[in-house]
Amino acid sequence: MRIAVVGTGYVGLVTGSCLADSGNEVTCIDIDREKIERLERGEIPIYEPGLDDVVERNREAKRLRFTADLGPAVRAARLVLLAVGTPPAADGSADLSAMWAVVEQIAPHLAKNAIVVTKSTVPVGTSARIAARLKELTGRDCDVASNPEFLKEGAAIDDFMKPDRVVVGVRRPEVADALKNLYAPFLRTEKPFLVMSPESAEMTKYVANALLATKISFINEAANLCERMNADIDDVRRGIGHDSRIGFAFLFPGVGYGGSCFPKDVQALASLARQHGVEPRILDAVHEVNGRQKSVLGEKIAVYFGGNLRGRSIAIWGLSFKPRTDDIRDAPSLVLIDRLLELGANVRVHDPEAMANVCRLYGDKLQYFELQIDALQGADALAIVTEWTEFRHPDFDEMARLMKGRVIFDGRNLYNPSAVATAGFTYHCIGKTPLGPAPSRS
Ligand SMILES: NC(=O)c1ccc[n+]([C@@H]2O[C@H](COP(=O)([O-])OP(=O)(O)OC[C@H]3O[C@@H](n4cnc5c(N)ncnc54)[C@H](O)[C@@H]3O)[C@@H](O)[C@H]2O)c1
Repeated sequence: MRIAVVGTGYVGLVTGSCLADSGNEVTCIDIDREKIERLERGEIPIYEPGLDDVVERNREAKRLRFTADLGPAVRAARLVLLAVGTPPAADGSADLSAMWAVVEQIAPHLAKNAIVVTKSTVPVGTSARIAARLKELTGRDCDVASNPEFLKEGAAIDDFMKPDRVVVGVRRPEVADALKNLYAPFLRTEKPFLVMSPESAEMTKYVANALLATKISFINEAANLCERMNADIDDVRRGIGHDSRIGFAFLFPGVGYGGSCFPKDVQALASLARQHGVEPRILDAVHEVNGRQKSVLGEKIAVYFGGNLRGRSIAIWGLSFKPRTDDIRDAPSLVLIDRLLELGANVRVHDPEAMANVCRLYGDKLQYFELQIDALQGADALAIVTEWTEFRHPDFDEMARLMKGRVIFDGRNLYNPSAVATAGFTYHCIGKTPLGPAPSRS
């Protein structure tokens, strides 16, 4: 099948390369010419485990091509996948300007039997509106399907190749058949291919993300209460997780969710609800609780040091919004960095993949360290924001030798509190009473 993917970001590049890997001829299109030139040279513009191999293999086999010239690729395509960004507008609704620009651009080139497929996360009703606009532009009925993407950054290739389910929203069974054929190589373990209306498919994506975000804000609120009640959120988590109605997934306390999806999708669904006269009380609370949670670590540090960080050095491990990605969109680390700089701290950061992206935002306001251990030299405190596996078993004795202060603020509850306290550190994490010596004011 000949496929054009418009928008070559996290979703477009993963989708395009995985579809090429199953034998399709795919052209990935982007308006960012620099990105396209890098891809043509074999450079991968984002960090995503395993992506480089899939791209390289299919680029060499000439099943995967990159271009900034939309016309020829769309003219040749039976499937035109739309994977441009849908960021939040100022009022929280989804900004569809890139999507509408693409609809205008593809219209003159669409083949008669082409199927347009929205992979971007878009408000309910968008596929119908795209179909209506394409009819105005082309003078004929065009098939527009919704096929929301559920991949997780950091595990995107695996998620695409072995999805839990594929959801498609279509108006005609023939379109469902074409998409079922496309996804057949990825559904060989009998995972479901779910066919519904475009409206239900669009709603499914938002509801899935909103529910996951709700679980995170819920456990974070419970964790904050545990701290006041001298309870331990990890014990509570174990206590509830074994209940088969509850389970353990997405119930880890932390410093709030970030990334390109949950923050914007929760707000977009709330905005959609308001537009249609439904008061989104839970969604608003989820968003608000998350906003507060992102500042929890900074406030713990501020309180510990008496509200003044002038002359203090704070090391941060972990900048990406989650491990195994370089994505820092809406990352909790940015809220912490801003607060520490505001309080006058000298901020020393390390992340295995995201430092270049953070450097583009902060430049020389921060100090950057390729090795996690080097960020600790002379630091008064360490803050952990992202749970990269390489942070899980540090040498506490070596850390104590390098650091000036003996305090760790762990936003991801990585360590056994008594082991950290035994090594001489005061340990503040999420949802537990701090353990270790009281702060020194020196
Ligand atoms: N990132 C994820 O984990 C994820 C997961 C599921 C769904 N989604 C959804 O998928 C969509 C894309 O997300 P992303 O993270 O890949 O975004 P992204 O910002 O990484 O990529 C979007 C790409 O579209 C390109 N683009 C913008 N306007 C264009 C135009 N007119 N023509 C061609 N290209 C254009 C941009 O240059 C960019 O490369 C969003 O709706 C998002 O909500 C993202």
